[in-house]
Amino acid sequence: MKTVQDAEEVSRIAFGFMASKALFAGLDLRIFTLLANEPKSVSELCEETEVEESLIVTLLTALTSIGLLQKRGDMFDNAPGAQAYLVEQAPAFFGDYLRYQIDRQMYPFMDQLNDVLRGDLEKIEKKTYEEWMSDPEEAELFSNSQHSGSLGPGKVLARRVDLSDGETLLDVGGGSGAFSIMMCKHYKQLKSTILDFPNVTEVGKRFVAEAGMSDRISFQPGNALTSEWPDARDGILMSYLFSGIPGAEIPNMVRKAYDHLKPGGWIMVHDFMVEDDRTGPSMAALWALQHMVFTPHAMSLTPSYTVGLVQGAGFESVEVSDLIGGMTKAVVGRKPA
Ligand SMILES: C[S@@+](CC[C@H](N)C(=O)[O-])C[C@H]1O[C@@H](n2cnc3c(N)ncnc32)[C@H](O)[C@@H]1O
Repeated sequence: MKTVQDAEEVSRIAFGFMASKALFAGLDLRIFTLLANEPKSVSELCEETEVEESLIVTLLTALTSIGLLQKRGDMFDNAPGAQAYLVEQAPAFFGDYLRYQIDRQMYPFMDQLNDVLRGDLEKIEKKTYEEWMSDPEEAELFSNSQHSGSLGPGKVLARRVDLSDGETLLDVGGGSGAFSIMMCKHYKQLKSTILDFPNVTEVGKRFVAEAGMSDRISFQPGNALTSEWPDARDGILMSYLFSGIPGAEIPNMVRKAYDHLKPGGWIMVHDFMVEDDRTGPSMAALWALQHMVFTPHAMSLTPSYTVGLVQGAGFESVEVSDLIGGMTKAVVGRKPA
């Protein structure tokens, strides 16, 4: 990791939130989508966004300066990355995830960081996922935007295990059902149960119905830490669960998974993990910080800690691998047959 040397680099970090906000505003005004087919002038963008000229010029200048747009003469155009990921019709579009989950939910949460670090927990508004997801609108916004981000990783994870003979999966904290849908698409005989908070399972039911899988994916509304889990599973998946529960609960989840799997069953843990030396990657480290602001005792996970817990619970053939590069890892293992 390159260390910071001068004031300009310190400033780039300190003022980074201005760049994030410029990106979110660009998405909100659909600038990247408006530029999808051809470069446009200020006056064209002004008319199409219905934003006053001096304001749009400032935003377009900011977006160009951070490399999301390019300017040729008087015309603005998308940079290749903006064209690939921020245009609504693009197959890899993830602008809604950024606009809704990151801008509207994660960004304001960061205001709680100093209070969390000082232990002033009475000052913070939300202390658990359960509290947060008890608001149906928040649950809807969160799970809708999570869905598109989890379909791709779900497809990859399905190939890291072998559930070809498996019939039952338990997806703990399964959210919108993205992972269950992809696992069930890959393993045609598999059925899954998603355990998550009630407002989240309502959103999940809609996604599962849209995927035509309501006969194979069912829901158990509840808190994974306190409710009973269905027994004798061929696979138990926990994707982004450990980063959002108090660290002290993680060993209990691993033990509970062991107890509720059949012999030969697979445990799958997918989450943000920094490398064992805790030098990065920064995206994984920052996501752990982000989780800490709404789950004050959440942990910054490492592969060796997670693998150690899984092995310690009795699982065999435990393997760790990158899933979303620079951000998440998957730890998989089998209960002895
Ligand atoms: C980041 S989302 C991930 C959803 C899904 N696993 C995925 O990877 O797409 C985290 C999910 O864990 C759920 N969750 C967090 N704590 C939980 C708990 N104690 N019991 C049940 N679900 C929980 C949240 O409601 C949310 O749906």
